[in-house]
Amino acid sequence: MSSNDRVIIFDTTLRDGEQSPGASMTKDEKLRIAKALERMKVDVIEAGFAIASPGDFDAVKTIADTIKDSTICSLSRALDADIERAGEALAGANSGRIHTFIATSPIHMEYKLRMQPDQVVEQAVRAVKKARNLCDDVEFSCEDAGRSELDFLCRIVEAAIDAGARTINIPDTVGYAIPHQYAELIRQLIERVPNSDKAIFSVHCHNDLGLAVANSLAAVVAGARQVECTINGLGERAGNAALEEIVMAIRTREDLLKVHTRIDTTQILSTSRMVSGITGFPVQPNKAIVGANAFAHESGIHQDGVLKHRETYEIMSAESVGWNANKMVLGKHSGRNAFRSRLQELGIELASESELNAAFARFKDLADKKHEIFDEDLQALVTDTQNEEVTEHYKLVSLEVASKTGEVPQAELVLLVDGEEVRASEQGSGPVDAAFKAIESVAQSGSTLQLYSVNAITQGTDSQGEVTVRLERAGRIVNGNGADTDIVVASVKAYLHALNLMQCGVARAHPQVGGI
Ligand code: KIV
Ligand code: ZN
Repeated sequence: MSSNDRVIIFDTTLRDGEQSPGASMTKDEKLRIAKALERMKVDVIEAGFAIASPGDFDAVKTIADTIKDSTICSLSRALDADIERAGEALAGANSGRIHTFIATSPIHMEYKLRMQPDQVVEQAVRAVKKARNLCDDVEFSCEDAGRSELDFLCRIVEAAIDAGARTINIPDTVGYAIPHQYAELIRQLIERVPNSDKAIFSVHCHNDLGLAVANSLAAVVAGARQVECTINGLGERAGNAALEEIVMAIRTREDLLKVHTRIDTTQILSTSRMVSGITGFPVQPNKAIVGANAFAHESGIHQDGVLKHRETYEIMSAESVGWNANKMVLGKHSGRNAFRSRLQELGIELASESELNAAFARFKDLADKKHEIFDEDLQALVTDTQNEEVTEHYKLVSLEVASKTGEVPQAELVLLVDGEEVRASEQGSGPVDAAFKAIESVAQSGSTLQLYSVNAITQGTDSQGEVTVRLERAGRIVNGNGADTDIVVASVKAYLHALNLMQCGVARAHPQVGGI
């Protein structure tokens, strides 16, 4: 296949994905995901929206300074200040990209931007030129292209390419498109824009009608050669096209689509799990590719067929996306070197010797409670260790719970609050409820619990429970995570992590809110 048959995979988990309510991530969490995306050979990683907040800037900069094998991109509105900030954050990148956008649909231009179409074209051209002065690789997006007029799109796209944009993105911002119609839009643009051969056409589909993946693939058939997508389909509202579905559809139906990607598909499952663990967005069991049932055959007829010849009911192998790769890796007697080298094999880098020591101490504790330690246990353990990046105003010292049939559950805990020991005791409808009430009797955080979820990390009753607690206060949402073989302890860790995030958080701006 020629280079024209390659589809560029542009991952926006760290930017559009983070716009899912409740999916905000810390800098270190973003860096871990970026490293996993690099391992997966994602072509472009949209690391954030540099001007949104100092935290976003810092995350884009750190990722740009660290990742070497993927292009790192920052979003910016078509504004000088945004573009300059993006350029600054990307200065250290091996390969950087500024992604600038402006809305092009009549409804957005009239009501959101309050600008005439001519002014929008002028602003777009100015923004692309400004970005090209800072970076060779510039992408221009026509926000709400799915509801824009074709003639106007042709005009602005031609002008943006003339101004120096190398990639033209045609987003279906509100998830309104239908596959054949969206494909026709892409086909018409490529045909009618006189300089279309000087740019790569890209698509960015939202899933409001459940069509994001179908629309993206239809656009590829029509000539698009970049797909913007996210791990697990995370993203604004109903989310974006799921990377794992796009990549596996292209790979499985190469016979029909006649294109390929450079993704290492064996990294898909572990990355999906990492993103789910960090954001607290669980993956539904019947989710394509990465759901727990994606390769499980329940009916006897199917099982029989698969045992006789796998392809009777399987169109791709579970191994090709990383299933069945979790080996029993370590146990109670494993030493520090074995631990370190398994982390390295998993692509987990700890920032310092003291982080490694802390993770190893947790590993030993876990190995005392749990016979077999799997890769997933190591991932959770490291998440816990790296949670320590967040200043710990609240820290668990000890917890005692009493729960007996016919009696009201009770939790007693000792916390360190800014270094001082505080005791609390409360009753609740269950041990977790009692423990959360006890924490709140001390913290008085004024936040509301929006989500409480527990997942078994591996199989068996000795599995660690991974808990996510989502708290909301004054419009700010944080996700806390905790893992332990005792799910009440895991729950308390997750609650305290959320409170600590709440304490040290910085509010961020939303790229699509606020006009030019
Ligand atoms: O959905 C959208 O239009 C976007 C753009 C900023 C690319 O996310
Ligand atoms: Zn979007």
